[in-house]
Amino acid sequence: MLSTRSLFNEIYRNDQAYQLFCSIAAGGEDQGGWENERITALTRDPVLAPKVARHGADERKHGRIFTRLLNKRGLPKVPVPDEADYCMLLERQGIGLSHERLNSDLPLTEREIITYLVHSRVTEQRAAEQMRQLVKVFGDHPELGRAMRMISADEDDHLAYCHEELLRLASEGHGPYIRHALETSARGEIRTYRDVGLAVTSRMAGILRWPRWKLAVVTLGVHALYLYDRAFGWRRMVTLRMPEHRNALGTPAPPHAGHEVP
Ligand SMILES: [Fe+2]
Ligand SMILES: [Fe+2]
Repeated sequence: MLSTRSLFNEIYRNDQAYQLFCSIAAGGEDQGGWENERITALTRDPVLAPKVARHGADERKHGRIFTRLLNKRGLPKVPVPDEADYCMLLERQGIGLSHERLNSDLPLTEREIITYLVHSRVTEQRAAEQMRQLVKVFGDHPELGRAMRMISADEDDHLAYCHEELLRLASEGHGPYIRHALETSARGEIRTYRDVGLAVTSRMAGILRWPRWKLAVVTLGVHALYLYDRAFGWRRMVTLRMPEHRNALGTPAPPHAGHEVP
């Protein structure tokens, strides 16, 4: 039967599919790491800056974990196809802060901090959901289980942090702007997630030599998720709720952040 579990297992068993999957994951994590490092450098807020730094350190750690999983299989990373580059496609739609802005030396304004946190609120929601799905499939896997559980717990923390920081800024009078920015970003993310999903699906279909019916079914699934998200699912990306786990990024990353890798 065709299920998320069977699709992930099929990708895991095929070297080329696994290579593409881990390369896309590592690329996204590294990009998130770089963005957070630049935002740390441009943030004048002494309370927020260490949390952004921790966020960046976590994403770099995730990038190393996916790279290491590949290397364990004796595979190098492959370039991420442009049409599957989630971060770049989001940026092109004006979601989050641009590369150009992050490469400058001007400190970030409060609005730009909100733009960063809103981008993170929306993308970390997606990351947390994807990782929970991977934990469901591979949580007990001898090679992948520990890594998936660790990354999943981190993504939950990142999401909690975004909720908390945005609520703080909303209480300081930025509520309407945050609300507007969240809605625009969520709509753009949902579209981008569909486009990336279609691109990855068609690549995987070629690598795994799927019959036409299988490609059609998975493609239909991506479109169905898009329609659901556009009609109802977007709401889960724009709400703000105080998390149970407060100050989730309040402590700096452990000094040997690379050693926890399985
Ligand atoms: Fe991550
Ligand atoms: Fe994250």
